[in-house]
Amino acid sequence: MNRIKGIREKIPDQVKRLLIPVVLVIAAFVVMRHFLVPSDFGKYGHYRASAIDDVISLEIKYSGHMVCDDCHDDIVEVKKMSYHRDVACEACHGPAAAHTEDPDGNKLQAPRERGYCPLCHEYLPSRPTGFPQIVSESHNPRKACISCHDAHDPKTPEAPKECKACHAEIARTKALSHHIYVSCIRCHETPEEHKVRPRDYRPEKPIRRELCGECHAKNAPAAKAIPRVDMATHGERYVCWQCHYPHLPEVD
Ligand code: HEC
Ligand code: HEC
Ligand code: HEC
Ligand code: HEC
Ligand code: HEC
Ligand code: HEC
Ligand code: HEC
Ligand code: HEC
Repeated sequence: MNRIKGIREKIPDQVKRLLIPVVLVIAAFVVMRHFLVPSDFGKYGHYRASAIDDVISLEIKYSGHMVCDDCHDDIVEVKKMSYHRDVACEACHGPAAAHTEDPDGNKLQAPRERGYCPLCHEYLPSRPTGFPQIVSESHNPRKACISCHDAHDPKTPEAPKECKACHAEIARTKALSHHIYVSCIRCHETPEEHKVRPRDYRPEKPIRRELCGECHAKNAPAAKAIPRVDMATHGERYVCWQCHYPHLPEVD
């Protein structure tokens, strides 16, 4: 007894006072638990048993894609083989349970507007590499995506093969320039694959001023009307395109 009394005396007063709030908190917890925990808590597991009934009573809004097959088998068939095979019908058309019960009374919307598809396809650095992405500001602006891509079978349509299909601005500039009749490939040797996978197969860009000299040097065997310069003294310390924009060469 004397030993316990000794220990009690050794505990400082402020620690003893700390015991009061601790006891109060524990008491409050026990009381609250009694009043606030629902009576059917823990009947089946660590949850409220009647939650199951609550969930069952919620209206079912999604139907899953299997039902669509009953009435839209043509679309289901096409989508199954397409790049969108893993995108659920209802991801684009919204909850469809009511529609499957009464198709004419409950019409679904189709996302035909241009703003929709970029939700998944707008370029974002955090998307996995290889996921097909576009920059909608510059990818065929203003036209609806579905005017070129079938939403149920979104193959990339084949791009037209002329350079101007993808380099419209350069082509338009050149068409108004002195170089209108100099073809793109005269200056850019272009592998055929560039027109299909442009970033993987790049055309050559001129690196030597002699290329321009092939037409513009004093002794070049080109047509007479082409203006000539003395390659040895005309801007000799630079490549020509540091002073002349090759797609719109101007002298003044
Ligand atoms: C019981 C048959 C039935 C089922 C099941 C069904 N549909 Fe339909 N759906 C129809 C009919 C009929 C129409 C045409 C209604 C009309 O022309 O007004 C239609 C029209 C549509 C449209 C056209 C909307 C538009 O703007 O033209 C979409 C989208 C659609 N259904 C999606 C779905 C999806 C997604 C599913 C599966 C979750 C589904 N449907 C399941 C019968 C069905
Ligand atoms: C990537 C989004 C997307 C997915 C996934 C998708 N749809 Fe569509 N769906 C569209 C768009 C956009 C249209 C409008 C097409 C148009 O007007 O040319 C459309 C049109 C429809 C139509 C109207 C008839 C038609 O062919 O134009 C039906 C029916 C339909 N979809 C059913 C389905 C069903 C069933 C599925 C699943 C098997 C599905 N869709 C999956 C986007 C989608
Ligand atoms: C919910 C996300 C989602 C939405 C919305 C969506 N897509 Fe897709 N899209 C995908 C996925 C996933 C793929 C397949 C990617 C893969 O194969 O790696 C894909 C593939 C594509 C491709 C194929 C590119 C290629 O590799 O050739 C095109 C084109 C495309 N989608 C166009 C559209 C269009 C147009 C719309 C709007 C009607 C649309 N997508 C809406 C998820 C989506
Ligand atoms: C005028 C027709 C046209 C319109 C409109 C159009 N596209 Fe394309 N899309 C193409 C062509 C052609 C290609 C293939 C060549 C290329 O990559 O430019 C393509 C390629 C794609 C690709 C594949 C890119 C890749 O790297 O594999 C995706 C994804 C795509 N488009 C989505 C969209 C979306 C989303 C929209 C609407 C915001 C849209 N497209 C509007 C014609 C179009
Ligand atoms: C399908 C679309 C497409 C077509 C067709 C196309 N290009 Fe390109 N081209 C591109 C893209 C995309 C790039 C890369 C742009 C970038 O990376 O900034 C590119 C880049 C280039 C470059 C710069 C290469 C570099 O390394 O900087 C040249 C030069 C070029 N293209 C010339 C041509 C010529 C000449 C033709 C016609 C014979 C042509 N392209 C046809 C899409 C195309
Ligand atoms: C007279 C020669 C010549 C012709 C013709 C020509 N280019 Fe170029 N191009 C050049 C030179 C030089 C450069 C710049 C190289 C550098 O900066 O390293 C260039 C650069 C480019 C680039 C890189 C981006 C830029 O604007 O600098 C692209 C893309 C390109 N050319 C596409 C084309 C296309 C498409 C055509 C046809 C419509 C064409 N070129 C015609 C000489 C030419
Ligand atoms: C295939 C021949 C050819 C090649 C290669 C060529 N040009 Fe030209 N260039 C021409 C022709 C043709 C004209 C226009 C003559 C006319 O308007 O009568 C011209 C005109 C010019 C002019 C004069 C414009 C003016 O205002 O009078 C300049 C500057 C010029 N080229 C610069 C270049 C440069 C820089 C290169 C190399 C990147 C180059 N050219 C490559 C054929 C060529
Ligand atoms: C340091 C800038 C510079 C460089 C580099 C340069 N030029 Fe010029 N070029 C000019 C200027 C300025 C003029 C107009 C005044 C003149 O005729 O000297 C001109 C004029 C021309 C003309 C028109 C001559 C005429 O008689 O109308 C041609 C063609 C031309 N340059 C081609 C070239 C070619 C080809 C190269 C590369 C081998 C080249 N230039 C490099 C600045 C330059």
